[in-house]
Amino acid sequence: MASETMTNVPVHVSMIMDGNGRWAKERGKERVFGHYEGVESVRACVEAAVENGVKYLSIYAFSEENWNRPQEEVTALMGLMVKAMAAEMKKLDRNGVRFMVIGNRERLGDSLNRTIDECMEMTAHNDTLTLIVFLSYSGKWDILQAARKMADDMMESPQKREEIESMGVEGFDRYLATAGIPDPDLIVRTSGESRLSNYLLWQGAYSELLFVDTLWPDFRKEEFRAALEYYSKRDRRYGKVK
Ligand code: IPE
Ligand code: IPE
Ligand code: MG
Repeated sequence: MASETMTNVPVHVSMIMDGNGRWAKERGKERVFGHYEGVESVRACVEAAVENGVKYLSIYAFSEENWNRPQEEVTALMGLMVKAMAAEMKKLDRNGVRFMVIGNRERLGDSLNRTIDECMEMTAHNDTLTLIVFLSYSGKWDILQAARKMADDMMESPQKREEIESMGVEGFDRYLATAGIPDPDLIVRTSGESRLSNYLLWQGAYSELLFVDTLWPDFRKEEFRAALEYYSKRDRRYGKVK
């Protein structure tokens, strides 16, 4: 239920979904059960984001470093992504959600890449909420690929070189994998860890950070709303004096 309207709602909320393995372990189950249950939390957060007027919800689903997990877990996670996307696609579309995946897609399998393309094409026209799944993503990967593209462009012609040299921070933003997406206002990490684990290093420069003890599979609408309330009380100064 959407309770009274909240003021100062963040435009872009980002979640570092952590603690699935521990959630499963606490119940004497395999880690993958935590990942399955975590999909329910994603569903709840999408609904809560729409209800509260958040325009961008992004989720860190799989880092570049996560490729170093046991093969069995990586395979299960990739299978789960295909399944969840295929199952949710129509509902997302009906609810006006635009779906995007950002990350090093060259490392993803064909079937997952096909499902992602299908889901992105189907929902491209929606504008109630943009849901971004960061998959095979890392902040350093993103900055490096942006720097490479920029260097390539600089070689194009002396004029192009001059143009790039004179551009500001916004100019570099355009080379990032997140081009066109506003920087996250709020980044929430679950499971009690207070680190970024190579997430949105450039884009998160002025994000408000919230670290909560709740494990991701237990993070539902109520917790999402509490995070928005936390955000509404922040005073963002951007280095200035107020
Ligand atoms: C987050 O949960 C999901 C991914 C990183 C893919 P974890 O799998 O990291 O769970 P913990 O941190 O081991 O409990
Ligand atoms: C961060 O979680 C990555 C994602 C949530 C996708 P990890 O569980 O991989 O992070 P570390 O290893 O504890 O830093
Ligand atoms: Mg973890």
